[in-house]
Amino acid sequence: MEDEKIRLQKYLANSGVASRRKCEELILEGKISVNGNVVQELGTKILPGVDKVTYCGKSIQNTEKMVYILLNKPIGYVTTAKDQFNRDTVLDLVKIKERIVPVGRLDMYTSGALILTNDGDFVYKITHPKHEITKTYTVTLKGIIGNQAVENLRDGVKIDDYVTRPAKVKILKTDKEKDISRLEITIHEGKNRQVRKMCEAVGSKVIALHRSKIGELGVKDLKIGNWRYLKDYEIEKLLK
Ligand code: URA
Repeated sequence: MEDEKIRLQKYLANSGVASRRKCEELILEGKISVNGNVVQELGTKILPGVDKVTYCGKSIQNTEKMVYILLNKPIGYVTTAKDQFNRDTVLDLVKIKERIVPVGRLDMYTSGALILTNDGDFVYKITHPKHEITKTYTVTLKGIIGNQAVENLRDGVKIDDYVTRPAKVKILKTDKEKDISRLEITIHEGKNRQVRKMCEAVGSKVIALHRSKIGELGVKDLKIGNWRYLKDYEIEKLLK
């Protein structure tokens, strides 16, 4: 969540209250409240759409249009707004004027469905564990996976200090000649590198990982590296 927060003066300026400099003065003068409390610190950060900001008692809405984007992320891109090592980020692929952030993460070497938005409220709701949105992955593994390993993936395996919740696991293909297996794994959780760790836990090495769907939202209609705006009904469905 910290990533999605912005400085109060920036939020006020983006919302058309005044210039950034003038907004800093308003903060110092004690004219701005956040969630009912006057704040006078210029370092204050807020989460747009979640924190309630008022100026002399009047509610300030960020007037920036809300956008919701579905990207088919290629491998080789990091899912952060800024990267300390200057690597390519998913934001390099979506050049729009709104200040968007990724909803959740995909590893640098994982491709597939990633939502980006400037709606902090949406980010909060979608990533909250109680929402339990399913995520479906196509995983290519080295070797021919055994039935017991598949059962274990379904039931839950220990990764770090955590036992994963029951998952849906389908064998899509096993190829003895190429010595690979392909699985479709659907999970509700979003632990760090969860699918890779689950496969490691049953002794399988992941060769490729692709997120095919977030909930019912798939990326089959998008070429890798391409993106599109979500339709209203798709946004509503995700929030249900
Ligand atoms: N699980 C992983 O291992 N990596 C991802 O990027 C997403 C889920």
